[in-house]
Amino acid sequence: MKITVVGTGYVGLVTGSYFANKGIEVVNLDILPEKITALQKGEIPFYEPGLHDFVKEAIRLGKLTFTTDYKIALKDVDVIFICVGTPSKNSKADLSFIESATISIAENLTRDAIIVGKSTIPIGIKDWVVDLINKNKQPDVKIDWVVNPEFLSEGTAVFDMQNPSRVVIGGESSDSLEKVANLYSDLNCPIIKTDVESAILIKYASNSFLATKISFVNNLANIADKLDASITDVVYGLGLDPRIGNKFLKPGIGFGGSCFPKDITAFYTRAEELGLDFNLLKEVERINLLQSETIVTKIVSELGELKGKKITLLGLSFKPETDDLREAPSVKLVKSLLSKGARVFGHDPEALENFKKLNLEIDLSEDVYETCKKSDAIVLVTEWQFYLWLDWERIKSLVKKAFIVDGRNFLDKNKLKESGFLYKGVGVR
Ligand code: UGA
Repeated sequence: MKITVVGTGYVGLVTGSYFANKGIEVVNLDILPEKITALQKGEIPFYEPGLHDFVKEAIRLGKLTFTTDYKIALKDVDVIFICVGTPSKNSKADLSFIESATISIAENLTRDAIIVGKSTIPIGIKDWVVDLINKNKQPDVKIDWVVNPEFLSEGTAVFDMQNPSRVVIGGESSDSLEKVANLYSDLNCPIIKTDVESAILIKYASNSFLATKISFVNNLANIADKLDASITDVVYGLGLDPRIGNKFLKPGIGFGGSCFPKDITAFYTRAEELGLDFNLLKEVERINLLQSETIVTKIVSELGELKGKKITLLGLSFKPETDDLREAPSVKLVKSLLSKGARVFGHDPEALENFKKLNLEIDLSEDVYETCKKSDAIVLVTEWQFYLWLDWERIKSLVKKAFIVDGRNFLDKNKLKESGFLYKGVGVR
């Protein structure tokens, strides 16, 4: 068995090293030579806990290699995983990377193989992919198309790959479904074999449902705020109903990342193209877009005019344990605060370098205490554990005004209040 993985983002690298660590020969391909050169030296171009060791072990076993050359990558291959990005473009999934990867694979394959789409591809485009393969493949080569959506969360991707809640495989040929299923046969979870569209729908439904839960709880938290109620108690009471559960009901500043925002937009847009509507998801998106403004409102209601005020943001990545800033609520927040004339300062344990590249007018520092000095307000934007263990007494002595907006209801509010901070969370007293 030989596997080729196209794409070296967090999905491609985790997938490739996972199979390689199981003893399967894997070639990981990327069209960017600088990425491949770095990976060959064992350097991972982004922050993902555990991934460095996972990749290093696969290389040490002699099972994982990297290349930019499709001919080398596809020599003697049995299964090819496409793990390239499908970013958002005009509210749709941009399929240009899927297109070029599929064409290159089809053109260079000299033996029968299965192409597996792991990237999140839209519903209703199966025929487009199959046509692309058939138009570009060599006549005597048989290529089958299967999808196997990924359910990896950034920050826990290595763990998720080895401990999935389910494996979903969609395809037409039972032989191909079986071959791909066998790659996961040692996992202790259900393996769902279905048709292509159902498999893709499972992926979109999962992300959309999770995003819906978050917007639901954020809307609820805003109501709790108005009533001076406690969203923490409300969610506790809500989540004890086993039909509801308490997962993904953490209120905050809104969801971000490379998946939820783009997937819900692509999902309702595609539904509309098919003559259907999924307006529920438009509302989920609308609530999410407004959520970071509720944080700005809290700041303004305490400080009044923000012109010249120093606001310090703690945590910039879209969630903890990643340096990813795609659709990060921090970016919206910075822009909104700047538009009101505030001076914005920021700290993050991993995402500072990436944030610098956005060229926003924000002062970034690696020293969290320095960043907090003379602040009029501190906003906890991303719930990195690091912020729990700060010396808040020291921070109190450094700031101009002891005012904290906890955008994730994460910090120890009682301790902060005892230390003399004015504390505002999201839907908490
Ligand atoms: C998400 C899904 O959780 C994965 O299953 C999926 O494979 C992935 O998208 C994908 O499609 O590739 P990810 O975007 O890495 O993973 O991160 P999540 O942990 O799902 O968090 C997404 C956003 O929701 C973050 O901004 C997070 O802060 C926010 N969130 C999450 C909340 O605001 N409240 C919650 O209760 C949970």
